[in-house]
Amino acid sequence: MKELKCLFLGFGNAARAFLRILADSESDLACTYGVRITITGIATRRRGRRLFPAGVTPRALHEHFAATGEFLDSVPFHGDATEFVSRCPADVVFEMTPLNVTSGEPAVSHVRAALASGKHAISANKGPLIFGFRRTRELAMEAGRRFLYETTVMDGAPVFNLVERCLPGCKVLGFTGVLNSTTNYILDCMAQGAEFDQALRTAQECGFAEADASLDLEGWDSACKTAALMNVWMNAEVSPAEIRRDGISGIDARTVRELRSKGISLRLVCRASVQDGRPVGEVVLLEVPEYSEWASVKGTSSLLTIRTDLMGDITVTEHDPTIQQTGYGLYSDLLRLLREEAENGTGR
Ligand SMILES: NC(=O)c1ccc[n+]([C@@H]2O[C@H](COP(=O)([O-])OP(=O)(O)OC[C@H]3O[C@@H](n4cnc5c(N)ncnc54)[C@H](OP(=O)(O)O)[C@@H]3O)[C@@H](O)[C@H]2O)c1
Repeated sequence: MKELKCLFLGFGNAARAFLRILADSESDLACTYGVRITITGIATRRRGRRLFPAGVTPRALHEHFAATGEFLDSVPFHGDATEFVSRCPADVVFEMTPLNVTSGEPAVSHVRAALASGKHAISANKGPLIFGFRRTRELAMEAGRRFLYETTVMDGAPVFNLVERCLPGCKVLGFTGVLNSTTNYILDCMAQGAEFDQALRTAQECGFAEADASLDLEGWDSACKTAALMNVWMNAEVSPAEIRRDGISGIDARTVRELRSKGISLRLVCRASVQDGRPVGEVVLLEVPEYSEWASVKGTSSLLTIRTDLMGDITVTEHDPTIQQTGYGLYSDLLRLLREEAENGTGR
């Protein structure tokens, strides 16, 4: 049985959802891929950098943490984040720290340190897609390692994998999507009679609004997703600040309800196209007819239509996601790595 050593950077909602899936999949991974997963390091903001010298299995870590709120059998690492990523004995680094919309750090440096030290990098964090993506992708190719990021947009719903693996030879010409749960949920709640503040509070209590609500309400999260998709598919090399951006902060419930009475819904839409040979993206608040597919994206659901040259328009919908779907996105990237290694006959 081969051991696959994993390093977790961040141990919040996404990391713990991923860990639960790993814990439940130990025997599947052993039977299908002949692999035993161990976690050899975890970094968090409050606990610092911890090494697990003997490696801990996902089930043991999950059960111990669920029961005590503590890590078991770990020792502190005395060094900075780059040293930690480089020196922790690991095959795969999972980047699961919070997004920094102005620089992408520390996630960009984490992913690059992983690749430079011969490790695969799997990111839940959009930072490495929206700052220096082209260079990071080159570093991965130079190192012969994988840099995967399926869960960054629409969680585990196949978006990046769909284009890369299922639409070979197709060029992406643009896209249109409703991709931010919080704003969509608030707009729907207001249409049904809630006030703005009340709807925002519920979104925060349910845990899907960003801790800093302005990231959702002022369209930053949507701009980040637009930039990420443009960089990966359209070689755009844009940052979120370069995306023209509407938000929903100034919208009052009465306006939303008046529109609804006329058969109109509001949707915060991410879109990109090629204009004068150049990819251009924006986040726009649109009035859409009640019967349109955009209005049918309710609450926390998402919808993305990808415009391609050879296959026309293809739409992916994610219905009522929970944090489990974020964990699944990370897990699907891990399985892709294992499958590719098995196909290439590359041992570790
Ligand atoms: N939640 C979702 O639905 C979702 C979906 C797709 C993608 N994502 C992305 O996934 C990432 C994680 O999201 P989350 O919801 O799990 O966030 P979260 O619950 O806030 O967890 C973040 C974790 O990162 C740790 N952390 C913060 N700064 C760090 C640093 N400099 N070095 C190492 N660890 C650090 C935090 O430490 P403490 O525990 O000490 O605070 C915490 O454990 C984000 O980039 C997010 O955008 C999330």
